[in-house]
Amino acid sequence: MTTSRSTHAAAEVARMNTFFPLMPTLGNRWARRRPWEGMRVAVNAHLTTLTAALMRELTLGGGEWSVCASSPATTDLAVVELLREEGVSVYTGGDLTNRHLSTLDDNPELIADVGFELLGTLLARRPEQAQGLRAAVEITRTGVTRLRAASLPFAVVNLNDGLLKSNLENRHGVGNGLWTSVTAITDMQIAGRRVLVVGYGPVGQGLAAYARAQGAAVSVVDRDPIRRLSAHYDGFITPSLGEGLARAEIAVTATGVERAIALEHLEVARDGLVLVNAGHGGQEIDVARLREVAEKGDQLGPLCTRYKLPGGPWLTVLGGGHPLNIVTNSGSPEPVLMQFALLGMTLEWLAQAALKPGEVLVPVSIEAEVAQLALNALGQS
Ligand SMILES: NC(=O)c1ccc[n+]([C@@H]2O[C@H](COP(=O)([O-])OP(=O)(O)OC[C@H]3O[C@@H](n4cnc5c(N)ncnc54)[C@H](O)[C@@H]3O)[C@@H](O)[C@H]2O)c1
Repeated sequence: MTTSRSTHAAAEVARMNTFFPLMPTLGNRWARRRPWEGMRVAVNAHLTTLTAALMRELTLGGGEWSVCASSPATTDLAVVELLREEGVSVYTGGDLTNRHLSTLDDNPELIADVGFELLGTLLARRPEQAQGLRAAVEITRTGVTRLRAASLPFAVVNLNDGLLKSNLENRHGVGNGLWTSVTAITDMQIAGRRVLVVGYGPVGQGLAAYARAQGAAVSVVDRDPIRRLSAHYDGFITPSLGEGLARAEIAVTATGVERAIALEHLEVARDGLVLVNAGHGGQEIDVARLREVAEKGDQLGPLCTRYKLPGGPWLTVLGGGHPLNIVTNSGSPEPVLMQFALLGMTLEWLAQAALKPGEVLVPVSIEAEVAQLALNALGQS
């Protein structure tokens, strides 16, 4: 049965496809080729309309599809309903491990993961299922770090270190989208604000560049001297974290590391600081400790909460410290859709390829094919 929520999500997907018809092109290709006919495939993902746009086309390529919600904070219930209507098994409830185990009950032969979470549960709780897994795909930096620390009995294709992801999605997708969310939630204009970017990988570089393009005064903190030097030559001030937080009006994390901004850093922050996370997961800013010790908390609006540290500053957290552009599904979806196209094309390749266990970098030939399809979708062929 079609619900009004799922109709709304379907309309959003249709609108995205109108202005950037990359996904429908792939859907036509997969409907012709049916690469996953007779296979079971699981996807662990943020359940946003962007994921819906991908899943709708993937299912045209045959096979049985299961989707696990990687976080309740980024789960759009309209998307859950839409995917269920289209025959996808969607797992959203319970805790993360239970969702993973339910997804693994479907015995996937291919897995697409974020954060190496579903694969981590498979290795820890269902190691016997590794035999039935042909291969997997990981799309995030955090996931690649985790997979490198694991002993892999199957091949995992690393999409994060491909050329498309860091050049387009991490830099332009997050850089553009996150500031749109900040303005929508707070009504703050970014121009003239003192912004601190913590972590100067591709995500941080995009955040810094887009904030500067809007007229913010941007500083950058990174614990890696090479990244800090790059930030310096890109024209950003590079203070220590303490100095940066003491001056910034908005601080955004993009490190992939838990407690990159910890409680002791927050105690010396500027009064009124707005805290935003763009990195994977919800722990880069220690919001849990902040909530525990705060003497007051005000809900200023949806996704906007202010806390008062005893004897210290007022601090505002957006989106509960979860990656804000994903929580709000904001910004330019095109780089994300390109990455999802790459994910789909990689799954198409993996349905045939026989790879040795271990990490495999996504082949440049697949990236080039996706780039050409994206150029076609942009009318730039
Ligand atoms: N929000 C999104 O839509 C989105 C999209 C892509 C990636 N991500 C996530 O964003 C994060 C960053 O991605 P990236 O590709 O830029 O990663 P990256 O690893 O290339 O860059 C992270 C940077 O943070 C620095 N860093 C680590 N710990 C630090 C600390 N405690 N203090 C200061 N600097 C520190 C590192 O030195 C590094 O330069 C990852 O968690 C990734 O999964 C989010």
